[in-house]
Amino acid sequence: MQRAKFLDKLKSGYLRKWWLVILVSLVLLSFGALVAVFFSQWVQFFIGHEITLRQGSQTFKWWRQPPIEPLMKIYIYNVTNADEFLIDGAKPIVQELGPYVYRQEWERVNVEFHDNATVTFQQRKVFYFDAEASAGDEEDMVVVPNIPMLSATSQSKHAARFLRLAMASIMDILKIKPFVEVSVSQLLWGYEDPLLKLAKDVVSKDQKLPYEEFGLFYGKNGTSNDILTVFTGKGDITRYGLIDRFNGKTHLPHYKTESCNRLNGSDGSLFPPNITPNTTLYVWDKDMCRLLPLHFQKEVVTNGDVLGYRFSPPENVFYDPEHNPENDCFCPQGPPCAPNGLFNVSACQYDSPIMLSFPHFYQADPELLKMVDGISPPEKEKHQLFIDVQPQMGTTLRATARVQINLAVSQVVDIKQVATFPDIIFPILWFEDVISGLPGEVTDLLHLATNAPAVAKSALSFGLFVIGGVLLVISVFCLIRNSNRQETLTLESSTHYVNKPPNPRPPRNLIPPFPNGTPKKEPVDVLNPGFVADSNEMS
Ligand SMILES: *[C@@H]1O[C@H](CO)[C@@H](O)[C@H](O)[C@H]1NC(C)=O
Ligand SMILES: *[C@@H]1O[C@H](CO)[C@@H](O)[C@H](O)[C@H]1NC(C)=O
Ligand SMILES: *[C@@H]1O[C@H](CO)[C@@H](O)[C@H](O)[C@H]1NC(C)=O
Ligand SMILES: *[C@@H]1O[C@H](CO)[C@@H](O)[C@H](O)[C@H]1NC(C)=O
Ligand SMILES: *[C@@H]1O[C@H](CO)[C@@H](O)[C@H](O)[C@H]1NC(C)=O
Ligand SMILES: *[C@@H]1O[C@H](CO)[C@@H](O)[C@H](O)[C@H]1NC(C)=O
Repeated sequence: MQRAKFLDKLKSGYLRKWWLVILVSLVLLSFGALVAVFFSQWVQFFIGHEITLRQGSQTFKWWRQPPIEPLMKIYIYNVTNADEFLIDGAKPIVQELGPYVYRQEWERVNVEFHDNATVTFQQRKVFYFDAEASAGDEEDMVVVPNIPMLSATSQSKHAARFLRLAMASIMDILKIKPFVEVSVSQLLWGYEDPLLKLAKDVVSKDQKLPYEEFGLFYGKNGTSNDILTVFTGKGDITRYGLIDRFNGKTHLPHYKTESCNRLNGSDGSLFPPNITPNTTLYVWDKDMCRLLPLHFQKEVVTNGDVLGYRFSPPENVFYDPEHNPENDCFCPQGPPCAPNGLFNVSACQYDSPIMLSFPHFYQADPELLKMVDGISPPEKEKHQLFIDVQPQMGTTLRATARVQINLAVSQVVDIKQVATFPDIIFPILWFEDVISGLPGEVTDLLHLATNAPAVAKSALSFGLFVIGGVLLVISVFCLIRNSNRQETLTLESSTHYVNKPPNPRPPRNLIPPFPNGTPKKEPVDVLNPGFVADSNEMS
């Protein structure tokens, strides 16, 4: 009789409701657990999908026409005692001029997607002189080493003596001197050089020098001839933004080993996402002539309050093989190799003895600074190269690429014009390519994309856990309570819900008292008034 009543009771709508609530709360709890465990992975997957370069996507639009205002600031070392240096062997004195500031417009043109998750393009950069931001005029006259001439003489060092003598007489006739006085604009964008003109006329077409003008940024204003192929990230997000090919080649030809010839770094705009402080980023640039590794420095806040990681080259990036054995393969002809802190890019510069360093010989042999007067000691804030990236998405938020161009001159006694020119590393200029920040529309999105997942994850898992937990506690409690009372249940009590006097006990007491007033107590009262009412009627 009682058993049948109990079964009745279990089948009754009232108890079925509580089983259902238990089920729902368990489902909520398991969703909460799933969210807690897998949410970050889902977000990563989602981000990976969203940032992939593909026709029509927002990322692609911003990639093709970056909504940024890059500035190039150039500082030129004007030689003020060229004659004393040549005649009396005085120490060269330079005067740092600038900045000469150019606004740039960047665009990727001739963009073409391929089936194998790559995209080819050409980089277009247009430079406009910004007189207001500059500390001088483009037409300022400066005195700098004659790079074409000194390249030619330095290269002839190991040639036959009669060639050097011939070279000396040609230079005599053409009145070529070891220093030239040119305008800033000529030095950067090109001037007709008699030696290059001669070389072009005399030397056969397949020989090296393709220009008759010389300028340190000659041919860089406009669309580059070089074709880059980068990975879109489709299928393999770990290669997102990395260079696959440069003019169809996957490697440089210049160095001893495969690893030094690699060019599978980023072009500096996008990096594979999920960057941690342990990640090494790689940037490749044609003029750098090698992959540049970047290590984590610190966390920074960029504009729009977007958190970024600052990456910079490690201190030993340009150390000589003695101090950094990894650089051995960059010195195929050595030893001797370039001095500590200089990188020999001669192989990428038509064999001109050009050496790159950081400005003011930052992170280089301090002796280099002593070879010339007038260069202040390097300072990290002013002379370090850095890139600030958004770690989850790999977007570059801010960047300052700083490089100094130096000429490594060798003494060649048979050429009288340069006979007094000692072996020296002559600094020519340094420049910084500055991307000071992304526009608001991009940072707003980045801000949202980086903060929203964390907030959503906490809110969602917390919400699911709390609601699921509370429901579970309530329903289990209710079931237990009712099973304990099964003996005392009467038919009346299970069927006659109405016309009972209200239970005098305060509803709060239905829940076992929490000793320290745990917060769980509150939600129960608030969340389930129905529970209270039903129980009252039950008694
Ligand atoms: C550069 O130095 C030369 C002297 O060697 C001087 O005549 C010239 O005015 C200097 N240029 C600038 C822009 O100061
Ligand atoms: C991808 O396809 C393009 C065009 O078909 C080709 O030039 C390139 O070599 C391919 N890249 C890879 C990694 O297979
Ligand atoms: C670069 O080229 C554009 C035209 O394409 C021209 O307006 C601009 O003055 C050039 N910049 C320099 C620095 O020569
Ligand atoms: C570049 O390619 C090499 C193999 O050729 C690989 O080991 C390395 O991880 C790649 N670098 C990057 C940044 O993906
Ligand atoms: C970074 O590397 C260190 C030591 O190599 C390790 O202890 C740490 O867990 C790593 N951190 C991450 C985020 O991978
Ligand atoms: C710089 O590199 C070129 C070509 O690789 C080489 O001929 C020259 O000797 C190097 N110079 C130094 C100082 O290592």
